[in-house]
Amino acid sequence: MAAVLWGLAVMAAVVAVSVGWTSLVGGAWSPTRGRVVRKMLQLAGLSPGAQLIDLGAGDGRILLAAAREFGARAVGIEIDPFRWALGRLRARLAGLHEHISVRRENFFATDLSGADVITMYLSQAAVDRLAEKLRAEAPAHCRIVSYRRPLPGWPVWHWDAADDVYVYVAGAVRGESPPPGRAERAPPAGSGLADGGRC
Ligand SMILES: C[S@@+](CC[C@H](N)C(=O)[O-])C[C@H]1O[C@@H](n2cnc3c(N)ncnc32)[C@H](O)[C@@H]1O
Repeated sequence: MAAVLWGLAVMAAVVAVSVGWTSLVGGAWSPTRGRVVRKMLQLAGLSPGAQLIDLGAGDGRILLAAAREFGARAVGIEIDPFRWALGRLRARLAGLHEHISVRRENFFATDLSGADVITMYLSQAAVDRLAEKLRAEAPAHCRIVSYRRPLPGWPVWHWDAADDVYVYVAGAVRGESPPPGRAERAPPAGSGLADGGRC
């Protein structure tokens, strides 16, 4: 009996450490609800063939929805080995491994220059640190969707008050227009932005 209790205690400790240790490097694991995931991808205007990068991919749920429901090429960046493995396993079990890649990497070192959409649900400290990297690397047309955490100093293109989702267009923070063929679309209805949402 004592051995079983010890085993359970050790397991609980391993799970707690696995969930929590990444709060030191960008955010503890706290999965986004499916309904909010879908809303984030819709607000981003994710289209078939576009490349989505999820910074801190957790169990891969955003990647799965992006590939399965939107036909996107989804790339997940995850530093925790268990969640990295879980994300890869889920992609394989869903038969979507040709559309999804999960990299075990620190997202502060990830090249973001190929992204059409970037998603994140991280600590405010990590988002604050990422603001400069995103400004430097994300292509002008790239949409950045942050759940619950605003990007400091960035003009908000759309804010979904119901679920606290922030949407940004990367070029706007550099004063750039989107390149030809990537024409700016109107912000989603109800953004409440006085200028119609243009950055
Ligand atoms: C709040 S969870 C979000 C998971 C998933 N994106 C979702 O929305 O369900 C944050 C994830 O980011 C990962 N993470 C934190 N810091 C990281 C870093 N520096 N590089 C890569 N992943 C990181 C954590 O391990 C955790 O799985």
